[in-house]
Amino acid sequence: SLVVDFKETGVKIQPTMYGIFFEDINFAADGGLYAEMIKNRSFEFPQPKTGWLQPNSDIHKFNKESGILSIVKNSEENSNHNYASVKVNGSKYELINEGFRSMGIKIDAKYNLTIDAAKQRGNIKKIKFQFIEETGAVVGETSISVDHSGWKNYQAQLIATKTVLKAKLKITFEGSGVINLDMISLFPEDTWKGRKKGLRKDIVELLDGMNPGFLRFPGGCIVEGTALDKRYQWKKTIGNIEDRELLINLWNTNFKHRPAPDYYQSFGIGFFEYFQLSEDLGATPLPILSCGVACQFITGELVPLDQLEPYVQDALDLIEFANGSVTSQWGKIRAGMGHPEPFNMKYIGIGNEQWGPAYIERYKVFEKSIKSRYPEIVIVSGSGPFPEGDYFDYGWEELKKLNVEIVDEHYYAAPNWFRENATRYDNYDRKGPKVFAGEYAAQSIGTTSPENKNNWECALSEAAFMTGLERNAEVVTLTSYAPLMAHADGWQWTPDLIWFNNLQSYGTPSYYVQKLYANNPGTDLLAITEDGKPLTGQHDLYASAVKDINTNELIIKAVNTSKGKQTLVISLKGASINRKGIITSLKNDDLASENSFDNPQNIGLKTIDFEIKGGEIKIELPSQSMNVIKVKI
Ligand code: AHR
Repeated sequence: SLVVDFKETGVKIQPTMYGIFFEDINFAADGGLYAEMIKNRSFEFPQPKTGWLQPNSDIHKFNKESGILSIVKNSEENSNHNYASVKVNGSKYELINEGFRSMGIKIDAKYNLTIDAAKQRGNIKKIKFQFIEETGAVVGETSISVDHSGWKNYQAQLIATKTVLKAKLKITFEGSGVINLDMISLFPEDTWKGRKKGLRKDIVELLDGMNPGFLRFPGGCIVEGTALDKRYQWKKTIGNIEDRELLINLWNTNFKHRPAPDYYQSFGIGFFEYFQLSEDLGATPLPILSCGVACQFITGELVPLDQLEPYVQDALDLIEFANGSVTSQWGKIRAGMGHPEPFNMKYIGIGNEQWGPAYIERYKVFEKSIKSRYPEIVIVSGSGPFPEGDYFDYGWEELKKLNVEIVDEHYYAAPNWFRENATRYDNYDRKGPKVFAGEYAAQSIGTTSPENKNNWECALSEAAFMTGLERNAEVVTLTSYAPLMAHADGWQWTPDLIWFNNLQSYGTPSYYVQKLYANNPGTDLLAITEDGKPLTGQHDLYASAVKDINTNELIIKAVNTSKGKQTLVISLKGASINRKGIITSLKNDDLASENSFDNPQNIGLKTIDFEIKGGEIKIELPSQSMNVIKVKI
């Protein structure tokens, strides 16, 4: 058995310590968190019929005789460029929307449909909407009566008569003539907080279960764009949903086994919704903005320094949008969207994963401008891609000279790297910039390998590594796993924290590790040592300890990576301790095991009580386990 001791360190754990990194990768926004079920609802995709009809199918041939779908260019100037014009020759014309890798529907659940329609010619009286399953069988339907020749917004509700994972929406017309259609939208009624056209409830519940300290958005590489004109521009993502201009997603790829040529950003979730979600989750919002450098893995396009001003202005305006009074220009827009109170934004990130002099030169301009107007806003800067190497060293050296506040570090590496790097921050300068471990995840095969699994070895190794993040809370103040989530039929990157399909979602073993840390962050760091040394892998044991002055608890995280169980004896000298404690564990003897849609809790949290005798906590740590031990003090 191993005897460990603990003592006060005087270091505070920041409430932001364990957070969430959100990026619209793997269909995380459109087709994921954003509950819209219609793909290309307003015919704005570059191929405007994407998602509609099915070329070469029987339906298509049949359709040709009974009607035709054409796209009309509405305007070049505003964001709503197109609408659809449907010519119906007989009552058999059909339009089908395939959804985002189909549509998931649940028996008896309600789905709210809205559509803009304008009768042009003829006597089309009714439009029917039906859920169909793969066989074509109808599993729910509704209709609207078209009573107006100008544009009008119509609403209807479908109730599913069966649970179907891969349904589609069929639209048929009664009568013949020409009718124009736009913004054909379908949402489950049961969204997060019941908000109309809102977020998928099951996914937000998983996020909420993490109790995140912050929410970083909108990425990731999509912040940067493949080129500058494809960067994420927050101002184009607020206001009326209909006016948010579609943008190609950086993860619109032609990867061999997982192509996503239909990946666009509708911005149904835009910056207002991200701030609102942060508020819902009790998480500090952490927006990241383009620094004027496009993704350096792709084009690395640079805005000339003398043309950087609009980018900097975007950052200043964002702070006003989030925090400004309702009489300020941008605060007024926020209020108009239904949130007069400020969002209380404290952090802003400049650039995602940029490197070299190009980044540093631009960063300096942002910093000067932001700090002169908003000295209280904390700026997050970046150290470039994956740790170590010339770019990383250069970035850190320059950022240190600038005395920056927080540096974002990213690492995707093998599980053993994580176990071996539990000491990574032990020697970081206590007086230097703080660290945001902004993207990390153990890779079972190798970074960007499509074979990567979210297995227990990865999660256990992250758990061991995270004791090192916590032990170094004096330096590390924000941390997040990445990427956050992936659609099982539409992903570009694995591993991911959460997997979902159109009906279900589940947390991976890594999710439960994050959940355990984020729900037990504590407020004050304690030193937990064996013979005066922290546990950083000796005897395959890793540990960190905190106390929570709000709940009066001692919280110990202990990770046993060995194949055998180990007894841990924690002496509680001087502390007046209750007789009982609780221990919550994650464990599995098979390092290759995973969670799945069928077995989402294969590796899940188990909590038991334990007795404390003679001022000592004596605990048997199961083999290959992560444990959170809690005792009232
Ligand atoms: O998390 C996936 C990608 O990895 C992010 O978009 C990027 O920042 C990093 O390279």
